[in-house]
Amino acid sequence: MKLMEIEGGIELSGTIRISGAKNATVALIPAAILTDEEATICNIPEITDTEALCDILKALNVDVKRASESIVINPQNMQNIEIGEQFSKKLRASYYFMGALLGKYKKAVMYFPGGCSIGARPIDLHLKGFEALGAKVTNEKNKYIVEAEELHGANIYLDIASVGATINIMLAAVRAKGKTVIDNAAKEPEIVNVATFLNNMGAKITGAGTSTIKIEGVDYLGKCFHEVIPDRIEAGTYIIIGALCGNPIKVDNIIPEHVDSLISKLEEIGVDIQVGADYVIVTRGEKYKSTNVKTAVYPGFPTDLQQPFTVLLTQSNGKSKVTETIWENRFMHIPYLNDLGADIVVKNQTATIVGKSELKGTNVVATDLRAGAAMVAAGLKAEGKTTITNVEHILRGYEQIIEKLTSVGAKIEIKEI
Ligand code: EPZ
Repeated sequence: MKLMEIEGGIELSGTIRISGAKNATVALIPAAILTDEEATICNIPEITDTEALCDILKALNVDVKRASESIVINPQNMQNIEIGEQFSKKLRASYYFMGALLGKYKKAVMYFPGGCSIGARPIDLHLKGFEALGAKVTNEKNKYIVEAEELHGANIYLDIASVGATINIMLAAVRAKGKTVIDNAAKEPEIVNVATFLNNMGAKITGAGTSTIKIEGVDYLGKCFHEVIPDRIEAGTYIIIGALCGNPIKVDNIIPEHVDSLISKLEEIGVDIQVGADYVIVTRGEKYKSTNVKTAVYPGFPTDLQQPFTVLLTQSNGKSKVTETIWENRFMHIPYLNDLGADIVVKNQTATIVGKSELKGTNVVATDLRAGAAMVAAGLKAEGKTTITNVEHILRGYEQIIEKLTSVGAKIEIKEI
């Protein structure tokens, strides 16, 4: 087991370079098996979710070559066998193999995916989409068997603009016969990145990034080279850390437009932030105003930044409210923030934060990935020592977090216990 120790209350200055997006990478790796040749993807983050997906590729006899920041995936000798529970439960995104295997072989057998416990996380919309394309879905205990004689294009309306369902249906439809239209599709940048990857292979997808995606099925997908977009959630996390401790911090290699909603909220509460072409520079302030924020699908305020943002609002004067609309269980970090000295009450899906609070280091838990990021942000701000357990959650999504923070002056280390 690993734990993280932070000696907080230190000003941080320097540059943090943002890695490739986790939530694009975890879809691109399964999507790569759709090629009939070889796919090269660069700017791959070295996080444990990437390793877990590569383990699935290897179990399917796919040839995987890793070099620094890139991966070459060749599925020419692939075997479409059942994906065991030991693989699927390691992360949520294992479910993208369902769409990709169905799209390529018309059959996928795998166990229910794992991932952070932030809500019920059903996959009914993914399965309904597969059925609309002509597949039969059977669920035996925790195992899904999805198969089709033939996949055909369909008009699919998503009841919720789900990121996972949009990508999974795209993966299944890309080699189906005829045209598929996904309405009320999710618009997150990661979806655009996956659609671009598939189009680089020869797919015919239009409209990614809007709420209507059209996919004209093709028979063959070829060789391709692709680059993962910068991680907007990792960027947002370090921008928030900059607003807490930056003197200043430059967050580099980002697409600022992808974090527009966060930047607007930061400007509203009075954070000093300069926006460049592919970077932002953030300096911490002494006096921040309070605000209200509600999470929403892209381009709204991302649920994945809600937890780190609550940490910043403990430093605002007055009463702020954060309402979570995507996940039912994403306030597990709040009791730990209160242990650190915050004054936060959660009622239904809204956290009311009264600031400004002096944070003091103590022992806390990373209950999930972004709750863990919130603990890191709070630990860096708090005076004294903060010890975070369950840091495995954090390492699933933040590449070289210790090295990146140390390089700007943080006193942070991971210990094996
Ligand atoms: C993706 O999860 C991200 N994960 C999440 O990031 C992120 O929080 C979420 O999108 C929202 O932005 C990955 O990309 C791997 P959804 P996903 O399907 O695809 C409901 C992080 O911290 N729903 O858009 O699983 C669902 O319960 C993570 O990096 C159904 O009801 O999210 C939720 O309330 C955590 N039925 C809402 O839709 C379905 O079939 C949005 O979920 C699918 C979803």
